[in-house]
Amino acid sequence: MDLDITHPALSDLRARARRRMPHFAFEYLDSGTGRERGLAQNRAALDAVRFRPAILTGELAPDLSRSTLGHTHPAPFGIAPIGMAGVLWPDAERLMAEAAARLRLPYGQSTVAAATPEDTGPIVGDLGWFQHYPVNDAEIRRDMLARIKASGWRVLTVTVDVPGESRRERQRRAHVSMPPVMTPRILASIAASPAWALGMARRGMPQMAFPASYTKGVTGPDAFTHAGRVIRAFPDWTYIEALRSEWTGQLVVKGVQEPEDAARLVDMGVDAIWVSNHAGRQFEGGPAALDALPQVAARVGGSVPVYYCSGLEGGLDILRALALGAEFVFLGKAWYFALAAFGARGIDHLHDILTADMVANMTQIGAATLDDLPGRLLR
Ligand SMILES: Cc1cc2nc3c(=O)[nH]c(=O)nc-3n(C[C@H](O)[C@H](O)[C@H](O)COP(=O)(O)O)c2cc1C
Repeated sequence: MDLDITHPALSDLRARARRRMPHFAFEYLDSGTGRERGLAQNRAALDAVRFRPAILTGELAPDLSRSTLGHTHPAPFGIAPIGMAGVLWPDAERLMAEAAARLRLPYGQSTVAAATPEDTGPIVGDLGWFQHYPVNDAEIRRDMLARIKASGWRVLTVTVDVPGESRRERQRRAHVSMPPVMTPRILASIAASPAWALGMARRGMPQMAFPASYTKGVTGPDAFTHAGRVIRAFPDWTYIEALRSEWTGQLVVKGVQEPEDAARLVDMGVDAIWVSNHAGRQFEGGPAALDALPQVAARVGGSVPVYYCSGLEGGLDILRALALGAEFVFLGKAWYFALAAFGARGIDHLHDILTADMVANMTQIGAATLDDLPGRLLR
């Protein structure tokens, strides 16, 4: 059956993913923090961006391609980094890296992924954007950067919007823990998800593979805690200075919302600014991420690319962020709902949904290229 008939929208993929994933894994992927106002605010801010429909434009063949950081991509969106993706779905990191190479999208892999940079770097080729969480030990940091570079990752994205742990009450209620602790409740939810369980049985329970390679000798449940400690740094501005001098490739800072912070980072020599509020997972008392985007773009957009993620659910949402000043956008949860719903085929299907939805909406707006979008905003 044609997936575009049975599952025409991301919401359909999410619903199927929910049935196929153990409850704790779905909750880890889907939840925000606190009362989840951050998620709701991101959604409301996107819905508030409207365009002027166009008439009598003749036939349009919208061009979705976009260049950023020296690469031209067929579409202006990529895959945001997701920690422990290998718990969400077996072998998620490899499947996502392969999809990125196939679809020519940037693939972000988290420091706390279940794969190392060496595992997936050669698969993703020049589309690899490695995500860096600050690490405590400068020597470990330098070794990590050298390994990331040596395995071919082109861009380093440093995430700065996690100054400490958030509470994520929904995850607590679902008994989310890393690694999963096999309580009767967790076992029951695994038993109810045979495709997930079979894949995990073949591969073994995922670990934070990259940080864990710096805690040799520690095994068992403690291994996870020790690996986690490698990245429990509380960085300040000097950390970015150090990173800038040590990473010779392109450096992107993710999780920026204040225009003055963006300007200071650009002065420090970073190559791009990524506006995000971590999809409302860290703090629900700040602005909607989208509300920060035009201000940051106005402040630094002339000198470096500005990116956006948080809450994008379809092609129209992508157009909204591009119209407000993003040069490129990223989706996080969406790709993993698609993967859990239909495996690698689900990722390709989501890509088709997003591009078809962009084309359909650009035609209504009368935008032949992405550059036409700001001029079609309803002010
Ligand atoms: C399950 C999960 C894990 C995440 N882990 C990381 C991470 O390890 N590093 C990081 O920079 N961002 C992480 N993020 C944030 C995403 O990179 C991205 O900012 C966010 O998911 C985008 O919003 P969206 O999911 O609504 O598209 C995570 C998000 C989710 C949902």
